[in-house]
Amino acid sequence: MCGIVGYVGEEQCAALLVEGLRKLEYRGYDSAGVAVLGDKGLAVVRAKGKLANLEKRLGESMPQGATGIGHTRWATHGKPSDENAHPHKYGGVAVVHNGIIENHLELKEALISAGHKFSSETDTEIFAHLIQEEIEKGLRLPEAVRAALHNVRGTYALAVVSEKFPDMLVVSKNASPLVVGLGEDCNFVASDVPAILAHTRDVIYLEEGDFAVITKQGVELTDKSGHKLSRGVKRIEWTPTMAEKNGHKHFMHKEIHEQARALTDTIRGRASVEEGDVYLDGCRLDGKLVQRLTKVQIVACGTSWHASITGKLMIETLAKIPVEVDLASEFRYRDPLIDSNTLCIAVSQSGETADTLGSFREAKARGARTLAICNVVGSAIAREAEDVLYTHAGPEIGVASTKAFTTQLAAFFLLAVRLGRLRGTLSAAAAQRYLQALNEVPMLVDRVLKYEDVIKQAAHKFSQARDLLFLGRGPQYPVALEGALKLKEISYIHAEGYAAGEMKHGPIALIDENMPVMVLAPRDSDEEAGVNYEKILGNIQEVRARGGRVIAIHSEGDTKVPALAEACIPLPQTNPLLMPIVSVIPTQLFSYHVADHRGTDVDQPRNLAKSVTVE
Ligand code: M6R
Repeated sequence: MCGIVGYVGEEQCAALLVEGLRKLEYRGYDSAGVAVLGDKGLAVVRAKGKLANLEKRLGESMPQGATGIGHTRWATHGKPSDENAHPHKYGGVAVVHNGIIENHLELKEALISAGHKFSSETDTEIFAHLIQEEIEKGLRLPEAVRAALHNVRGTYALAVVSEKFPDMLVVSKNASPLVVGLGEDCNFVASDVPAILAHTRDVIYLEEGDFAVITKQGVELTDKSGHKLSRGVKRIEWTPTMAEKNGHKHFMHKEIHEQARALTDTIRGRASVEEGDVYLDGCRLDGKLVQRLTKVQIVACGTSWHASITGKLMIETLAKIPVEVDLASEFRYRDPLIDSNTLCIAVSQSGETADTLGSFREAKARGARTLAICNVVGSAIAREAEDVLYTHAGPEIGVASTKAFTTQLAAFFLLAVRLGRLRGTLSAAAAQRYLQALNEVPMLVDRVLKYEDVIKQAAHKFSQARDLLFLGRGPQYPVALEGALKLKEISYIHAEGYAAGEMKHGPIALIDENMPVMVLAPRDSDEEAGVNYEKILGNIQEVRARGGRVIAIHSEGDTKVPALAEACIPLPQTNPLLMPIVSVIPTQLFSYHVADHRGTDVDQPRNLAKSVTVE
C-alpha cells in the first residue's frame, strides 16, 4: 500500500521526508518520490525501485525547501516506473495520493479534450490537473483542492503543495488513512504514524471527508462543506515496531482487519448496480470472444487455489461455462486439453509463483486466451497475461494469505457476473441483485470482525489440539480447505479440510473426543433451497455420535446448530456464492489466535516463503 509523508516548518525537509518514507517501507512499494517547495520553486524527484534509488538521485541535486511531500507507491494503475511514481506535478501543483479514483478515465478524457497533456498512466495525475485549473481560475489552494475533489469519486488520502501558495500543505481523506502530526514550529502529515514518530507523538487522526490546511503555525480542520471541525489530539505511546503494525501485534492480524477496506477497493468503480453490469479495467473480454468459450481452465496454488474452487462455482452458476480448476504444479505435467476456445485464468496474490506462471505459459502455448487475477501490478504473471483483473488488497506481508483470498473471491464474483452478462445467462435485473449483495459484503465482513472475542475464546479452548478437522458443503467446502491450511501453516497443528459429505468415506474413523471439528454451517438462503444446511446438521450429528467436539460457524439467530456445538461463532447471512468471503473470516481469526496462544512465529511461519518462485 502506498505511503504518504508531508512536512511544513523551518528545516530543510528533503532528507526528513525520505526518512519518513523509510519508516513506511514495511507497507511495500515499487517506487518513491518527493516534492520540495523552496525559494527556487517546486522540485520533484522520483525513482522507480527502492528508496536507495531515490536517495541517489537526491544526492545528485538535493532540492532546497522547508515544505514538502513524499510518497512510496505500490502500483494500482500503471506499471512501476519513474513516470508513474508520485508526486505528480502539473503547472505549479504537486500531489501525492493513496487510494483509487473510480472515475479517473472520464475525468482524464475531459481534461485531454480541454488540451491537457498527461505524463503518467496513473489515476492520481488528474488531481494535479484539476487543482491547477482551479488555481488558474483564481481560487486559493484550499478552495482549489476542495473544488477538484468535488468532481472525484473514489478513495483517497491526498496531500498537495503549490508554488503559488508556499508554506502550506492541503490534505484530505476519504476511506484511506491519514494522520496529522503536531510539532514545534512545524507540522506533519502521514498515511501512518511510524513516518512521523521520530518528530512527534501528538497526532490527529483524520476522519472520512476531513480536510486540513497545515502550516507551520497550526492546523485548520474543516468538513466536506467547509465547516470548521475540532478533533482530539492523541498521544501515541506505541513503540516504532508497534506503530508499523498500526497497533496490531502481527501483520496477519492487521491484514485480517483490513479486509473490509481491501474488498471495497476491489469492488469500487467496477460494479454498477444501476446498470446491472461490471466494468473490468484491464480486461478486454468482449461478447464475441466470450460466446465462443467452451471452457474455463483455472490454475493456482495454495490459498489462491482455494479461491479458484469458489471461482469455479461462481462462473458455472452465473455464466454457465464449464470450469476446471487445477493445482498449478499438477497441470503442467498432465497433457491438458486446451485450445483457443479455452480461457485460462491464473490466480496469484504475488504474481510470481513459479508453478502458476509455468502452467499459464503452457496454456498460452496451447492457444488459450489468458487472464490473470493478481494483486501485484507488473508482476510476472500479470505481464504474461492478455487480460489482468487486479485485486486491490494492498501488499500482504504476513506469509499466511488473508486479504488476498477474500479479494480474489470478490474479483471472481465480478468476473462471473461480467461473463454472465456477456453470454446472456444473467439478466440485468439478476445482476443488479448480485451486485447489490456484493456491495454489502465489506460491511458484513466488519460485522464478523466484531465477534473476535468469541472467536478468540474458542481458539484458546482448542489451542492444544493435536489435529483438527474442518468441514463444509457446497460453497463452504473451499472455506473448509482454506481454514485447515491457515491453521496448519501458522500453528503447526495438523488440520484437514473436507467436504462434509465425504467424511463417512474415511475421515470419520479419526473422530473421537480428541478430534475437534470446525463445521461451517451457515443457514441456506432461498437460492440453495435448503440443501446444505439440513445435510450439515446431519454431519454434525455424525461427529457428536462419535464423541467429536464441534466448533460451529453458524448464522446469526440460528438455534439448531448452536444446540449441537461446544463453541459457537455467529455470522451474518448473504448470498451463498458470497458467503465464503464472510465465513472465512472466523477461520482466519481462529487460526491466528490459536497460533498466537501457542507462541509461534505468526507472520513468518517456519519453512514457508511468501512468494514461492521455485517449482
Ligand atoms: O502468491 P500466490 O497467490 O501465487 O501464492 C500461492 C501460495 O503459495 C499461497 O497462497 C500460500 O498457500 C499461502 N501461504 C497461504 O496462506
